[in-house]
Amino acid sequence: MRIIAIANQKGGVGKTTTTVNLAAALAEKGNRVILMDLDPQAHLTTFFGLDPSQYEHSCYDLLLKSASLDQCLIQLRENVQFLASGIDLAGAEQELVTVVGRETILRDAIEAYDKPVDYVFIDCPPSLGLLTLNAFGAAQEVFIPLQPHFLSLQGLSQLLEMLMLVNRRINPALSVSGLLFCMYDARTSLSAEIVGDIETYFEQQRDTDTPWKDITLFKTRIRRNVKLAESPSHGKTIFEYEPNCKGAEDYLSLAGEVIDMTKQHELPADTVQTSESLPPVVHAEEKTIIETPAPEAQLTTQPQVAKDPTQGQS
Ligand SMILES: Nc1ncnc2c1ncn2[C@@H]1O[C@H](COP(=O)(O)OP(=O)(O)O)[C@@H](O)[C@H]1O
Ligand SMILES: [Mg+2]
Repeated sequence: MRIIAIANQKGGVGKTTTTVNLAAALAEKGNRVILMDLDPQAHLTTFFGLDPSQYEHSCYDLLLKSASLDQCLIQLRENVQFLASGIDLAGAEQELVTVVGRETILRDAIEAYDKPVDYVFIDCPPSLGLLTLNAFGAAQEVFIPLQPHFLSLQGLSQLLEMLMLVNRRINPALSVSGLLFCMYDARTSLSAEIVGDIETYFEQQRDTDTPWKDITLFKTRIRRNVKLAESPSHGKTIFEYEPNCKGAEDYLSLAGEVIDMTKQHELPADTVQTSESLPPVVHAEEKTIIETPAPEAQLTTQPQVAKDPTQGQS
C-alpha cells in the first residue's frame, strides 16, 4: 500500500483535480484506491456530488470522535472508497490543538485498517495547519502539484521546509516523491524557464540528506484543459466526462508513471534503475534556482527555494 498526500498550501494549483483523476485512472487499471478529503472546504466531497452533512461518519468523526476508517469509508465507484470531509471539519483544526497525539490520529486509523488497498490519496487543504500535519504524519509520500509560475517557488520553499521538519520530528518514513506541473502551458517561455529551474534545483539535491532527494519530477505535465474544469460540476471524473480529451490523456499518462514508480519500489534494490529513471541531469555546479529573475521577480521578493530550508530564512 502506498499512502500519498497531495499537498501544496497554495489553493487552486490542481490538488483536488489530481486526487480525483489520478485515483480514477489507477482504479480503472484495477488498483484498489482510497480517497480522503482532508479539506474543510470539501471540494473533493462536493466533486462527487456528496453532501458532507449527509454522512453519519466523516473525516471529522475519524479525527475527533474515534470513529474507525472502516466505519467512515463510502464505496464510491468500483475499486474506489472515499472518506468525506465533514461539515465540522473547519472546527477540527482548533479542536485538535488540545488532543494528545494529534499529529498521528490519521496514521493510527490507516494502520488499524486491515482490508487490502493499493493506494491511499489524501487531498490536503490549502494551508499548513494540523489537518495537513495529520496527512504528513500518515503518509509515506507527498506529491506536490505546482503551477509553473514564479510565485509558486516561494510557496514551494515553505512547503519543503515544513516537510523537512515533519520528516525529522514526526514521520521519518516520509519522502517527497513526486512533483507534478499542473495547468501547464507549453506556449509560454516562463513556464519552460521555471520548470528548468526547478529541475536544476532538485538535481542538485540528489546527494543531500533531505526527504526530497529521490523526488520524481513527473514527465507528464497536466496541460490546461477546460474539460478538467467542467467535469466537477457534472460530478464526474475526466474519464467519465470526456475520456478522449487532453486532460484524460494526461492523467492516464501520470497514472502510468505512478505505476512505474510502484514497480521500481517492488524490485530488489540492486536491480532498481537509477540514472535511467531520473529526469535529465543538468550540470550546473553552483546555479541557483532562479539565476536571472523572471520579469515578475523584479516586482517581488527573491525566491527562497534555492536555500536549504533547514538553515532557516535569512
Ligand atoms: N489542468 C487544468 N486545466 C484547467 N482547469 C483546471 C486544471 N486543473 C484544475 N483546474 C481547475 O482549477 C481550479 C482549481 O483546481 P483544484 O484541483 O480545485 O485545485 P486545489 O485543490 O489545489 O485548490 C478548479 O476549478 C479546477 O477545475
Ligand atoms: Mg482542493
